Amino acid sequence: MDLNNIEDYNSFLDEVLISEEEIIQRTKELGAKISKDYAGKDLHLICILRGGVMFLTDLMRNITVPHTIDFMAISSYGVGGRQSSGAVRIKLDLNDDIFERDVILVEDIIDSGHTINKILEMLRTRKPKSLQVCTMLDKAARREVEVQIKYRGFDIEDKFVFGYGLDLDEYHRNLPFVGVVNLEKYTPPE
Ligand code: IMP
Ligand code: MG
Repeated sequence: MDLNNIEDYNSFLDEVLISEEEIIQRTKELGAKISKDYAGKDLHLICILRGGVMFLTDLMRNITVPHTIDFMAISSYGVGGRQSSGAVRIKLDLNDDIFERDVILVEDIIDSGHTINKILEMLRTRKPKSLQVCTMLDKAARREVEVQIKYRGFDIEDKFVFGYGLDLDEYHRNLPFVGVVNLEKYTPPE
Protein backbone atom coordinates (compact mmCIF):
# COMPACT_ATOMS: atom_id res chain seq x y z
CA MET A 1 0.00 0.00 0.00
CA ASP A 2 1.47 3.34 -1.04
CA LEU A 3 0.53 5.58 1.85
CA ASN A 4 2.03 8.65 0.21
CA ASN A 5 -0.52 8.34 -2.53
CA ILE A 6 -3.29 8.34 0.08
CA GLU A 7 -1.98 11.25 2.12
CA ASP A 8 -1.53 13.72 -0.70
CA TYR A 9 -5.06 14.74 -1.57
CA ASN A 10 -3.82 18.03 -3.00
CA SER A 11 -2.67 16.21 -6.12
CA PHE A 12 -6.23 15.31 -7.10
CA LEU A 13 -8.25 18.01 -5.37
CA ASP A 14 -9.86 20.07 -8.12
CA GLU A 15 -11.47 22.59 -5.82
CA VAL A 16 -12.84 23.03 -2.33
CA LEU A 17 -16.55 22.99 -3.07
CA ILE A 18 -17.78 23.67 0.47
CA SER A 19 -15.42 25.15 3.03
CA GLU A 20 -15.15 24.24 6.69
CA GLU A 21 -16.61 27.64 7.62
CA GLU A 22 -19.63 27.12 5.38
CA ILE A 23 -20.23 23.67 6.88
CA ILE A 24 -20.02 25.03 10.44
CA GLN A 25 -22.47 27.78 9.59
CA ARG A 26 -24.93 25.47 7.83
CA THR A 27 -24.92 22.81 10.56
CA LYS A 28 -25.73 25.57 13.05
CA GLU A 29 -28.71 26.62 10.95
CA LEU A 30 -29.93 23.06 10.49
CA GLY A 31 -29.45 22.28 14.20
CA ALA A 32 -31.50 25.33 15.13
CA LYS A 33 -34.25 24.41 12.68
CA ILE A 34 -34.43 20.81 13.90
CA SER A 35 -34.42 21.98 17.55
CA LYS A 36 -37.41 24.19 16.81
CA ASP A 37 -39.30 21.54 14.84
CA TYR A 38 -38.70 18.78 17.38
CA ALA A 39 -39.28 20.61 20.66
CA GLY A 40 -41.26 18.29 22.93
CA LYS A 41 -40.81 15.32 20.60
CA ASP A 42 -38.99 12.04 21.01
CA LEU A 43 -36.21 12.86 18.55
CA HIS A 44 -34.02 9.99 17.44
CA LEU A 45 -31.24 10.54 14.89
CA ILE A 46 -30.12 7.65 12.74
CA CYS A 47 -26.78 8.04 11.07
CA ILE A 48 -26.15 6.06 7.92
CA LEU A 49 -22.62 4.75 8.20
CA ARG A 50 -20.03 5.56 7.33
CA GLY A 51 -20.37 8.75 5.31
CA GLY A 52 -22.79 10.44 7.68
CA VAL A 53 -20.61 10.46 10.80
CA MET A 54 -18.97 13.90 10.53
CA PHE A 55 -22.27 15.50 9.68
CA LEU A 56 -24.07 13.71 12.53
CA THR A 57 -21.62 14.86 15.17
CA ASP A 58 -21.65 18.48 14.00
CA LEU A 59 -25.41 18.45 13.75
CA MET A 60 -25.82 16.98 17.26
CA ARG A 61 -23.67 19.71 18.75
CA ASN A 62 -26.14 22.20 17.34
CA ILE A 63 -29.33 20.45 18.40
CA THR A 64 -30.50 21.84 21.70
CA VAL A 65 -33.48 19.54 22.34
CA PRO A 66 -33.08 16.13 23.98
CA HIS A 67 -32.39 13.39 21.50
CA THR A 68 -30.81 9.99 21.07
CA ILE A 69 -28.72 8.52 18.27
CA ASP A 70 -28.27 5.22 16.53
CA PHE A 71 -26.33 3.89 13.56
CA MET A 72 -27.09 1.77 10.57
CA ALA A 73 -24.90 0.46 7.77
CA ILE A 74 -26.14 -0.79 4.46
CA SER A 75 -24.47 -2.11 1.36
CA SER A 76 -25.75 -1.24 -2.04
CA TYR A 77 -25.19 -3.39 -5.04
CA GLY A 78 -23.92 -1.06 -7.73
CA VAL A 79 -24.37 -1.56 -11.42
CA GLY A 80 -20.63 -1.00 -11.56
CA GLY A 81 -18.26 1.67 -10.37
CA ARG A 82 -19.99 4.56 -8.68
CA GLN A 83 -23.51 3.83 -9.83
CA SER A 84 -26.12 2.83 -7.31
CA SER A 85 -28.58 0.15 -8.41
CA GLY A 86 -31.10 0.52 -5.67
CA ALA A 87 -30.66 -2.96 -4.21
CA VAL A 88 -29.60 -2.48 -0.61
CA ARG A 89 -28.99 -4.86 2.26
CA ILE A 90 -28.65 -4.08 5.96
CA LYS A 91 -25.07 -4.78 7.07
CA LEU A 92 -25.44 -3.35 10.54
CA ASP A 93 -28.89 -2.92 11.96
CA LEU A 94 -30.10 -0.41 14.54
CA ASN A 95 -29.57 -1.11 18.22
CA ASP A 96 -32.86 0.40 19.27
CA ASP A 97 -36.45 0.03 18.28
CA ILE A 98 -37.90 3.02 16.44
CA PHE A 99 -41.56 2.17 17.04
CA GLU A 100 -43.53 5.41 17.65
CA ARG A 101 -40.40 7.55 17.73
CA ASP A 102 -39.67 10.74 15.79
CA VAL A 103 -36.85 9.68 13.55
CA ILE A 104 -34.51 11.67 11.33
CA LEU A 105 -32.19 9.81 8.98
CA VAL A 106 -28.85 11.56 8.70
CA GLU A 107 -27.13 10.99 5.35
CA ASP A 108 -23.99 12.31 3.72
CA ILE A 109 -25.28 12.66 0.18
CA ILE A 110 -28.31 11.81 -1.91
CA ASP A 111 -27.52 11.08 -5.51
CA SER A 112 -29.92 8.87 -7.52
CA GLY A 113 -32.06 8.56 -4.40
CA HIS A 114 -32.27 4.76 -4.56
CA THR A 115 -30.31 4.10 -1.37
CA ILE A 116 -32.25 6.46 0.87
CA ASN A 117 -35.58 5.34 -0.57
CA LYS A 118 -34.82 1.71 0.19
CA ILE A 119 -33.77 2.61 3.73
CA LEU A 120 -36.97 4.62 4.21
CA GLU A 121 -39.01 1.72 2.91
CA MET A 122 -37.34 -0.70 5.35
CA LEU A 123 -37.69 1.60 8.34
CA ARG A 124 -41.33 2.46 7.67
CA THR A 125 -42.25 -1.16 8.33
CA ARG A 126 -41.04 -0.64 11.92
CA LYS A 127 -43.72 2.01 12.41
CA PRO A 128 -41.91 5.10 13.67
CA LYS A 129 -44.18 7.98 14.61
CA SER A 130 -42.47 10.14 12.00
CA LEU A 131 -39.58 9.62 9.62
CA GLN A 132 -37.69 12.45 7.92
CA VAL A 133 -34.44 12.86 6.01
CA CYS A 134 -31.57 15.23 6.72
CA THR A 135 -28.82 15.12 4.12
CA MET A 136 -25.66 17.18 4.07
CA LEU A 137 -25.45 17.16 0.27
CA ASP A 138 -28.10 16.90 -2.41
CA LYS A 139 -27.07 16.10 -5.99
CA ALA A 140 -30.55 16.72 -7.32
CA ALA A 141 -29.51 16.65 -10.99
CA ARG A 142 -28.81 12.92 -10.64
CA ARG A 143 -32.11 11.97 -9.04
CA GLU A 144 -33.80 8.90 -10.51
CA VAL A 145 -36.48 8.41 -7.88
CA GLU A 146 -38.29 11.07 -5.93
CA VAL A 147 -37.12 11.61 -2.34
CA GLN A 148 -38.79 13.77 0.30
CA ILE A 149 -35.92 15.71 1.90
CA LYS A 150 -36.95 17.72 4.94
CA TYR A 151 -33.50 19.08 5.81
CA ARG A 152 -30.70 19.70 3.35
CA GLY A 153 -27.26 21.17 3.87
CA PHE A 154 -26.19 22.08 0.36
CA ASP A 155 -27.33 21.56 -3.21
CA ILE A 156 -24.40 20.51 -5.33
CA GLU A 157 -23.76 19.97 -9.01
CA ASP A 158 -23.08 16.59 -10.53
CA LYS A 159 -19.45 16.29 -9.45
CA PHE A 160 -17.81 13.49 -7.50
CA VAL A 161 -16.96 14.83 -4.07
CA PHE A 162 -14.99 13.67 -1.05
CA GLY A 163 -14.10 14.79 2.45
CA TYR A 164 -16.21 15.60 5.52
CA GLY A 165 -17.25 11.97 5.92
CA LEU A 166 -17.28 11.10 2.23
CA ASP A 167 -14.56 8.73 1.16
CA LEU A 168 -12.36 8.03 -1.77
CA ASP A 169 -11.68 4.33 -1.54
CA GLU A 170 -12.31 4.59 2.22
CA TYR A 171 -9.74 7.34 2.82
CA HIS A 172 -9.99 11.11 3.19
CA ARG A 173 -13.19 11.08 5.24
CA ASN A 174 -11.36 13.22 7.83
CA LEU A 175 -11.07 16.34 5.69
CA PRO A 176 -13.03 19.21 7.23
CA PHE A 177 -14.27 20.43 3.84
CA VAL A 178 -16.02 18.93 0.81
CA GLY A 179 -13.75 18.76 -2.22
CA VAL A 180 -14.19 17.85 -5.86
CA VAL A 181 -12.08 14.98 -7.14
CA ASN A 182 -10.17 15.27 -10.36
CA LEU A 183 -10.69 11.69 -11.48
CA GLU A 184 -7.96 11.97 -14.10
CA LYS A 185 -5.39 12.78 -11.44
CA TYR A 186 -6.65 10.35 -8.85
CA THR A 187 -5.15 6.88 -8.60
CA PRO A 188 -6.88 4.46 -6.24
CA PRO A 189 -4.56 2.98 -3.59
CA GLU A 190 -3.00 -0.39 -4.49
P1 IMP B 1 -27.74 7.04 -4.36
O1 IMP B 1 -28.37 5.72 -4.00
O2 IMP B 1 -27.43 7.12 -5.83
O3 IMP B 1 -28.55 8.21 -3.88
O4 IMP B 1 -26.32 7.05 -3.70
C1 IMP B 1 -26.07 7.54 -2.45
C2 IMP B 1 -24.74 7.03 -1.97
O5 IMP B 1 -23.75 7.06 -3.02
C3 IMP B 1 -24.21 7.94 -0.89
O6 IMP B 1 -24.63 7.53 0.38
C4 IMP B 1 -22.72 7.82 -1.08
O7 IMP B 1 -22.23 6.73 -0.33
C5 IMP B 1 -22.52 7.55 -2.54
N1 IMP B 1 -22.16 8.77 -3.31
C6 IMP B 1 -22.90 9.38 -4.25
N2 IMP B 1 -22.27 10.45 -4.76
C7 IMP B 1 -21.09 10.50 -4.12
C8 IMP B 1 -19.97 11.42 -4.21
O8 IMP B 1 -19.93 12.40 -4.97
N3 IMP B 1 -18.94 11.15 -3.37
C9 IMP B 1 -18.92 10.09 -2.52
N4 IMP B 1 -19.94 9.24 -2.39
C10 IMP B 1 -21.01 9.43 -3.19
MG1 MG C 1 -23.79 6.99 2.20
